[in-house]
Amino acid sequence: MDKFVVRGGNPLLGTIRVSGAKNAALPAMAAAILTDEPVILEGIPQVRDIETTRQLLAAMGAEVELGYGRAHHRTTICCRDLTSPEASYELVKTMRASTLVLGPLVARMGRARVSLPGGCAIGARPIDLHIKGLERLGAKITQEHGYIEATADRLRGGQIVFEKITVTGTEDLLMAATLADGETIMQNCAREPEVADLADLLNKMGAKIEGAGTPTIRVQGVEQLHGTKHRVIPDRIEAGTFIVAGALTGGDLNVSGCEPKHLTALLQKLGDTGVTVLQSTDAVRVIANGPLRACDVITEEYPGFPTDMQAQYMALATQASGTSVITENIFENRFMHAQELVRMGANIKIEGSRAVVRGKTELSAAAVQASDLRASASLVLAALVAEGETIIDRVYHIDRGYEHIEEKLRNVGAQIRRIGEILPKRAVPAVRA
Ligand code: EPZ
Repeated sequence: MDKFVVRGGNPLLGTIRVSGAKNAALPAMAAAILTDEPVILEGIPQVRDIETTRQLLAAMGAEVELGYGRAHHRTTICCRDLTSPEASYELVKTMRASTLVLGPLVARMGRARVSLPGGCAIGARPIDLHIKGLERLGAKITQEHGYIEATADRLRGGQIVFEKITVTGTEDLLMAATLADGETIMQNCAREPEVADLADLLNKMGAKIEGAGTPTIRVQGVEQLHGTKHRVIPDRIEAGTFIVAGALTGGDLNVSGCEPKHLTALLQKLGDTGVTVLQSTDAVRVIANGPLRACDVITEEYPGFPTDMQAQYMALATQASGTSVITENIFENRFMHAQELVRMGANIKIEGSRAVVRGKTELSAAAVQASDLRASASLVLAALVAEGETIIDRVYHIDRGYEHIEEKLRNVGAQIRRIGEILPKRAVPAVRA
């Protein structure tokens, strides 16, 4: 299993480029199921979850071509001859977002057999709202042997009010409603930029969607959808991770190729901690500006502070003067990284859904292990400021959602290398201010 070896101490300097958003690419690839024509997606990041989705679609009979390097991170997917509308446990257990194929399969094929995802490191994460929504659209759903079986001659439009805001729940039912008979009105929807990006793609495929990005989405069902070309939005969480890295290491870092307006809550919070943040059309420059000030943070649905930035912010809070209270409102078990940070010398107390971080404390290198995608990112950030050489185990978690992060960070001055089984090398152009 791969590990990262990180020697702390270097401020990050220069320009680092953001890839396309994993959480926009996954639903976009599932959306290709809705048509028998090719869908061309650009900006698809070279991360493990994309490879898992390729396997998922290929197992159904789809043709999936992943192109990187000169192919501009382009993916061409054609679901003309789907033979088996099934998402197996083997794949779903490695990536819960596999459940995004449920709605599109029922809508297009009239049948879907999708494994229940099971437990997750950060919380129970049931998909009951996906199921209830599909039943509202007329699907017949049964559950046996750990699989959801969903059938419908043709889905019919209806009213869906989400009891809880769910990102992939909104995306799954949005896709299903595009081919339903009649109008669907969805309320209390997720407003994440990835939802709006999916609606943008679906409308290019011939869907009739209004209101994506707001709490109420209207979908007028159509008989069929066609192929198209679409570039997914930049990864706001990867961008946020690099912005926090720049602030934490006392650097001057330009994070390019991102969408600053998707990062408002984070940038406001960093401003409160005393960091200088300069925004331009597609970049954010972060300049350390003396000691960091402690600030509380509460994770919320978009446009609030993203839960996917909570772990990275905790690493920063360990270096801020004073007490930061971090409240996690989205997932019930998303503080696994805290004990690993404590192993490095941080002062963190967990009290239910709150983490009380007292800083600033000197961090020292230690052997630590990642438990999930964003937790692993926070360990890399902490190691960038720790005294000595930190060994981070289980970095397969970080490969799920960050494209060649160690090369990108090394290009702006980080001392980080990967040891263990070597992934296929792809040159990353060095960019320095
Ligand atoms: C998406 O997960 C993201 N994943 C997550 O990012 C992100 O943390 C999360 O949204 C919240 O922003 C993708 O987009 C692929 P939810 P999702 O449904 O859709 C409860 C990362 O690091 N819930 O919005 O699975 C659920 O348990 C990942 O990239 C139900 O109770 O999250 C949670 O408490 C991690 N029943 C809350 O809602 C349901 O049917 C929000 O979850 C669905 C959700």
